Amino acid sequence: MVDFEAFFKITYGLFIVSSGDKTKGNGFISNTVFQVTADPPRFAVCCNKNNFTAGFITRTGVFSISILEQDTSSEIMGRFGFRSGRDFDKLEGMSLKYGETGVPIVLNASIAYLECTVIQTIDTGTHLMFIGELVQSAVLDNSKEPLTYLYYRQVKKGSAPKNAPTYIDKSKLEALKSSGPLKRYKCTACGYIFDEEKEGIKFSDLHDSWTCPVCGSEKSDFIEV
Ligand SMILES: Cc1cc2nc3c(=O)[nH]c(=O)nc-3n(C[C@H](O)[C@H](O)[C@H](O)COP(=O)(O)O)c2cc1C
Repeated sequence: MVDFEAFFKITYGLFIVSSGDKTKGNGFISNTVFQVTADPPRFAVCCNKNNFTAGFITRTGVFSISILEQDTSSEIMGRFGFRSGRDFDKLEGMSLKYGETGVPIVLNASIAYLECTVIQTIDTGTHLMFIGELVQSAVLDNSKEPLTYLYYRQVKKGSAPKNAPTYIDKSKLEALKSSGPLKRYKCTACGYIFDEEKEGIKFSDLHDSWTCPVCGSEKSDFIEV
């Protein structure tokens, strides 16, 4: 048997992984960032092949990692984690810095950043794992805590979309399957659709403090569609 809840016992941080150059760039929310070696410092990032950002990393051979603060807004999570740069310019209006390689680094909601050049790419199936060697790094705000996946899930009641490696096909979860017909709810402010089947949780089971991951509207602003 597979108990998907066991997967959630693994701890992660949350990051914006960006790539590109001074003319065009893009970034996505990732929980799969970790340090793989100390000397030299190397970091791994797991990126879905369908992410718009994957092409930028492959083409430019560089990426940056913005380490998010605990109070990262749902607007930032929605912009980088639920929408694709194929549909709009995610970096427009953001506070950016360009690294030594020219890679864009998102400073919004970030307490530190790392800039890396790709030294190895591993094809893991649905995702590419990019191993990057550190070019430079800096702390931006020492007074704030980093955002962990656990905090995002338990306190912010956040979820992850299909491209995230931690996404679980909850249709496999017996409890959900047997709990009646699955419904869809629409945010009346921005049109975001909460699909119970995709999210693996009943809308009614979301905490009252849950907010729209794209625009931050309250749960009560959603209607069944
Ligand atoms: C909490 C969270 C964690 C995520 N982790 C990853 C990840 O580790 N790898 C990945 O490829 N996508 C991950 N995603 C999904 C991407 O951020 C999302 O598909 C994004 O819209 C891709 O943007 P892009 O097409 O502009 O590159 C995550 C999303 C969320 C909300």
